[in-house]
Amino acid sequence: MKQFLKGCNLYLIGMMGSGKTTVAQILAPQLEYRYLDSDRLIEQVAGQSIPEIFAESGEAAFRELETKVLSELCAYTHLVVATGGGIILNRQNWSYLQHGVVVWLDVPVEQLYQRLAGDTTRPLLRDPDPMAKLRSLLDQRQSLYKQADVRVIVGPEDTPEQIATGVLAEISKILKDHTNQN
Ligand code: S3P
Repeated sequence: MKQFLKGCNLYLIGMMGSGKTTVAQILAPQLEYRYLDSDRLIEQVAGQSIPEIFAESGEAAFRELETKVLSELCAYTHLVVATGGGIILNRQNWSYLQHGVVVWLDVPVEQLYQRLAGDTTRPLLRDPDPMAKLRSLLDQRQSLYKQADVRVIVGPEDTPEQIATGVLAEISKILKDHTNQN
């Protein structure tokens, strides 16, 4: 797998609570890649937490930072990047994501809701009805997540290690298809 990827970055996309960070941290050492989290980089650049950025500067300012960080990190290779759930919203971001392999961790909304219960770090979930909010975000975003190169459907019993194995299996399928076409 490593030799086929040739240092090409992996970008994990998907809703908040889909496990991108945990899975990216498992995948990186397996591929001898470096793990990065776009949200943590945004916080470093801004010198503020994500809730602070949303509260003080608004979502649009956060999205600008997100694009800036992505544009800079895509210049590097050998990265597994856990992205923020909304990274797929900006068309310009796709021009960066498409340099690598884009993997969608597809988790049912009920599972997301369970995982995110009590979370205070996601400003978009500060809503009187977080379940309805999650559903509406997923409705708006599903067609964009579907543009990923690879989709991994996550079941309620799947461990992060199993999901990481599933990601590698799906990537190896598309790499094989690609090799067979050429
Ligand atoms: C967001 C997801 C968050 C973070 C921000 C906005 C979104 O990242 O980028 O709160 O729009 O879905 P995670 O997906 O890592 O929670």
